[in-house]
Amino acid sequence: MTAIEAIRARRSIKKFTAAPVPREKIELLLELAVLAPNNRMTAPWRFVVLGPEARAAYGRAIGVRKSRKVEDPASAQTVRDRALADAVGGPLMIAVVQKLADNLEIREEDYAACWMAAQNILLAAPEVGLGTHVRSGAVFGDATVTEAWGVAAGERVLGVISIGEPESVPDAKPRAGAAERTTWLA
Ligand SMILES: Cc1cc2nc3c(=O)[nH]c(=O)nc-3n(C[C@H](O)[C@H](O)[C@H](O)COP(=O)(O)O)c2cc1C
Repeated sequence: MTAIEAIRARRSIKKFTAAPVPREKIELLLELAVLAPNNRMTAPWRFVVLGPEARAAYGRAIGVRKSRKVEDPASAQTVRDRALADAVGGPLMIAVVQKLADNLEIREEDYAACWMAAQNILLAAPEVGLGTHVRSGAVFGDATVTEAWGVAAGERVLGVISIGEPESVPDAKPRAGAAERTTWLA
């Protein structure tokens, strides 16, 4: 698979099989992640590979957030139970954590570098038979999540990459074409 093919074929995978992901494949993807461009070579990233116990913290936190919108206590409990079961029983996840530089310009560069590292994982995964889905959101700043994942003060969870064998691959979503978003200057 060429880089062009990998970029064209990449999708956010919604359904994964229950097949476990071999550790060597995750190690390979992380090795590729840290080859991302990185101004000043700050190595601003840290990756936390989340097994079922670590994912439970996320499942509980997302369940609490979702259930706030549900008035009936029994239904709210069902929402929490489902969120927990989905997280624990779902695919492996890798949390992408940024070390926050004091200098705001460097912090911004580092933020971009962390997502570039994440993109390396997304683009390389299909070559080893894996699919991915990246997620971000306020839940990853919840203290229950950051404590469970060992995220230190001065670090931020940017998001998580769900990763596993795809059960199905969605069609490409319609997108604005590049020509519409491009200006050529003399
Ligand atoms: C920074 C970032 C955050 C994202 N967060 C979420 C999310 O919270 N939930 C979700 O379902 N998808 C999330 N996505 C995936 C996008 O929704 C997805 O890329 C988009 O719908 C296009 O689909 P495709 O990836 O299959 O091309 C995120 C993507 C990026 C780049």
